Amino acid sequence: MPPCVTVIIPTFRERENIPLVLGRLDAVLGDFDWEVVFVDDDSDDGSAAVLLGLCRELPHVRAIRRIGRRGLAAACIEGMASSSAALFAVMDADLQHDETVLPKMIEAFRREPGLDLAVGTRYSGCGGMGNWSKGRQLVSRVATQMEKLLLRTPLSDPMSGFFVLRRELFEETVHSMTGKGFKILLDIVLSSRRELRTEEFPYEFRTRCHGESKLDVVVGLEYLYLLVDKTLGRLVPVRFALYVLAGLSGLLLHLLLMGVLFRAGGLPFVNAQIAATLVAMISNFLINNAVTFRAQRLKGFTFALGLTAYMAICALGAIVNVQSADYLYDKGIPWWFASATGAMIGAVWNYAVSTQIVWTWLPSMLSSRSKIK
Ligand code: GDD
Ligand code: MN
Repeated sequence: MPPCVTVIIPTFRERENIPLVLGRLDAVLGDFDWEVVFVDDDSDDGSAAVLLGLCRELPHVRAIRRIGRRGLAAACIEGMASSSAALFAVMDADLQHDETVLPKMIEAFRREPGLDLAVGTRYSGCGGMGNWSKGRQLVSRVATQMEKLLLRTPLSDPMSGFFVLRRELFEETVHSMTGKGFKILLDIVLSSRRELRTEEFPYEFRTRCHGESKLDVVVGLEYLYLLVDKTLGRLVPVRFALYVLAGLSGLLLHLLLMGVLFRAGGLPFVNAQIAATLVAMISNFLINNAVTFRAQRLKGFTFALGLTAYMAICALGAIVNVQSADYLYDKGIPWWFASATGAMIGAVWNYAVSTQIVWTWLPSMLSSRSKIK
């Protein structure tokens, strides 16, 4: 018989906290049919040995070791996918979430068969933010307000990492989730196509005792990516938008250089144009490699090859651009429309071909080492 509830605990460097959080769960969930699965991203602090010991001794404890991967949301999704239970509870390992609320959250599903989600919230009733600094409280509140504008399902704490959901909701949403960053609850709610039935459970966010928080700038960027992907992403792929932004920055740089080299420096127009084009291409490559394709970022020898290939592709793109614009102009289309369309076709060409060749094919051809992703 599958357990009724699987508690999913993502862990990264939480060696000391693992036995403590397990003890707390044992104390409050005794009456339920439950199991816990720790999803650990190959922490280098000896967590694996602690987990192995617990799993060998206790039938209600499981662990998933993810090698070569990082990410709170992705870890939670993997934990849910590994379970056959009817309910999934997600909770942090660091004892910041109040486990004594968990039984009430689970009971709510018995009481109310149509319930989709039970969410632990810091912002309503007697919930609170614990000892968070004023700065982090403010960031958290602003981010929460932004989400409220986007959410179909009203939640007072959509960034909560403490919630219980029904398996059906997971099945409905798992294929559209972004699976990036920290905001797994937000990902589920934004990926669902209907208004969800939710219930909120206030609690006081506790202070972390062991280990440290993994929230950093990258997690913040991933959060913005999630919001953009779930809103504008339906119209324009986020990556393409980033690519176009990088291209616009290249255009600015190009004009700036023309001002310096041609207007001020007195270089012949063609020479200045060639120099500005080369510099703008390199700058675009650097930005795209650092931001647009950061997940596939090229380094070392592959970087040099990638840059060369990128410049060749863009040169071809320029030909495609000019040819298409010229063709349209010949057909009597107004000059500005023909020109802009040519530039757009060139941009799509550059994007499509460099995505495939520079940031997909090249790295996979050259990486002879471990391909585990
Ligand atoms: N497997 C895995 N992989 N686990 C991770 C990773 C990762 O890359 N990063 C963090 N974790 C685990 C931590 O070990 C911890 O158990 C839990 O995820 C939360 O991480 P913290 O680093 O403690 O996050 P926080 O306290 O700053 O953020 C909490 O509050 C946010 C509210 O703003 C979390 O509950 C977030 O989920 C929540 O959104
Ligand atoms: Mn924490």
